[in-house]
Amino acid sequence: MKILVTGGAGFIGSAVIRRAIADGHSVVNVDVLTYAACLDNVACVAGSPGYSFEQADIRDAEAMAAVLDKHEPDTIMHLAAESHVDRSIDGPAAFIDTNITGTYVLLEAARAYWMARGKPEGFRFHHISTDEVFGSLGETGFFTEDSPYQPNSPYSASKASSDHLVRAWAETYGLPVVLTNCSNNYGPFQFPEKLIPVVILKALSGQPIPIYGKGENIRDWLHVEDHAEALLLVLEKGELGRSYNIGGENEMTNLALVKMLCSVLDMLRPGARPYAELITFVTDRPGHDRRYAIDPSRIRKELNWRPSHTPETGLEQTVQWYLDNEDWWKKLRARQGVGERLGVSK
Ligand SMILES: NC(=O)c1ccc[n+]([C@@H]2O[C@H](COP(=O)([O-])OP(=O)(O)OC[C@H]3O[C@@H](n4cnc5c(N)ncnc54)[C@H](O)[C@@H]3O)[C@@H](O)[C@H]2O)c1
Repeated sequence: MKILVTGGAGFIGSAVIRRAIADGHSVVNVDVLTYAACLDNVACVAGSPGYSFEQADIRDAEAMAAVLDKHEPDTIMHLAAESHVDRSIDGPAAFIDTNITGTYVLLEAARAYWMARGKPEGFRFHHISTDEVFGSLGETGFFTEDSPYQPNSPYSASKASSDHLVRAWAETYGLPVVLTNCSNNYGPFQFPEKLIPVVILKALSGQPIPIYGKGENIRDWLHVEDHAEALLLVLEKGELGRSYNIGGENEMTNLALVKMLCSVLDMLRPGARPYAELITFVTDRPGHDRRYAIDPSRIRKELNWRPSHTPETGLEQTVQWYLDNEDWWKKLRARQGVGERLGVSK
């Protein structure tokens, strides 16, 4: 199958591409290369005959039509997005532009392409989204596919809007879509502004490890390779028009996660003192959702999906990867805003 992947130079898109190529698919990677992109993420497959790259913007209707006509993909996986909540607080415009308008432009390009080819049977528009669209949970309960949308940040509101557009294009125009909402991802190649790489890199440089508020916010962590596997499964076997929640059932407070990372670092790269001594509590993020937790029953039962990483194995592998790949992250730390405290404005 030839898959057009948007955002394939990012964290999750690149994991999808590495996995898709390993599974024998062809891939067209469409990415405009924002500050969050890194083509090194797909360097291991760039020489593969099944891989091609197009530097193009999903907001550019002509460019999207041209890429589709040129490559004639069988299906589309849409991951391109502005993805950092803190940046969305400081500058929501880019999130509205890319995540909402960009998704709209891509949907229209996909619809024209699909219709011009006589609505081919196997075509899918797979929209990749987040559990953050459901807002915040209390002490108990889980997000299911039927949970109401209650986004709280400009990022999650823009993703929620894009989910609604995708649903509407299926209902109104019959575009064959599948939608997934996933919990927090971690793993190799995660851009060094996200929580887990921030903790690892601050610890390695002996700097304070910032924790927002009291570190009591709870997230449900999933290894990016487990997510990529789930996404390809939904693409191939998911029911048309259906959404699937994807999560690892690994709930942890941010403080517990950071302490776990510090213990792994103590083991793999022992310092003079335990890394946990660097933990520093800083002003909380405005509108910080208290708890996310996914009920992944549907994808487990209907598609027989199970994650293969536990937090223990996955976090150790991830820390080791950052220790082994200094060249990758050192140059990304020089990019605008990385390493700074963002998203404190109210
Ligand atoms: N990271 C997570 O934990 C998580 C969890 C659930 C869902 N998601 C969703 O998965 C998707 C990928 O997330 P990620 O963490 O890999 O993001 P990322 O920021 O690492 O990568 C996004 C990629 O999209 C590209 N891009 C941005 N704007 C573009 C545009 N206008 N045209 C073309 N390309 C553009 C960027 O250059 C970058 O390569 C996003 O849609 C995000 O909402 C992420």
